[in-house]
Amino acid sequence: MKTNNYRIHEISAEETFQVRQPVLRPNRPLDTCKFDGDLLNTTFHFGLYLNEELLGVCSFFNNTYSGISSKNQYQLRGMAVLKTFQGQGLGKLILQYGENFMKEKGADTIWCNARQLAVPFYKKNNYAIISEPFNIEHIGLHYVMSKSL
Ligand SMILES: CC(C)(COP(=O)(O)OP(=O)(O)OC[C@H]1O[C@@H](n2cnc3c(N)ncnc32)[C@H](O)[C@@H]1OP(=O)(O)O)[C@@H](O)C(=O)NCCC(=O)NCCS
Repeated sequence: MKTNNYRIHEISAEETFQVRQPVLRPNRPLDTCKFDGDLLNTTFHFGLYLNEELLGVCSFFNNTYSGISSKNQYQLRGMAVLKTFQGQGLGKLILQYGENFMKEKGADTIWCNARQLAVPFYKKNNYAIISEPFNIEHIGLHYVMSKSL
């Protein structure tokens, strides 16, 4: 796919649900797509559009992980690309856009609870595992991963 015809910009929490739901919470109620802090003005949501269709989303929350000492850390959550469009570079594009945006807002570190399946994606994007594996109910094994901006 040619990825030069895309647009990435800030979107609302509610707009993320149309990608979060099928990708991250399939067959589960829409309410499970709402994350604590989604509506805070310190939270930022981004969407990638191709021909006006929302294909990918990610969000950054001003949350602290106990294993990171930096002051301006943000948690990446809801990183998702619609299934048909995965593996074509779109996840990387939206993540890089979000990281650059957050860096301009003063963020110095990004961390996330990475599903085991997504660990190679985050490694490719220069995140490192900084925790033991742990289980999240309904989803499975995760690792905390982080990256200095
Ligand atoms: C994880 C996800 C967001 C990645 O987005 P994507 O558009 O599929 O990934 P990209 O095509 O941008 O991949 C970027 C790089 O990561 C690599 N990568 C992606 N998924 C990978 C995988 N499962 N294994 C190995 N490498 C992978 C790609 O090869 C690419 O590397 P390159 O730049 O050297 O070619 C997407 O696959 C997704 O929505 N998955 C399901 C939901 C999910 O697991 N979200 C994360 C929750 S923690």
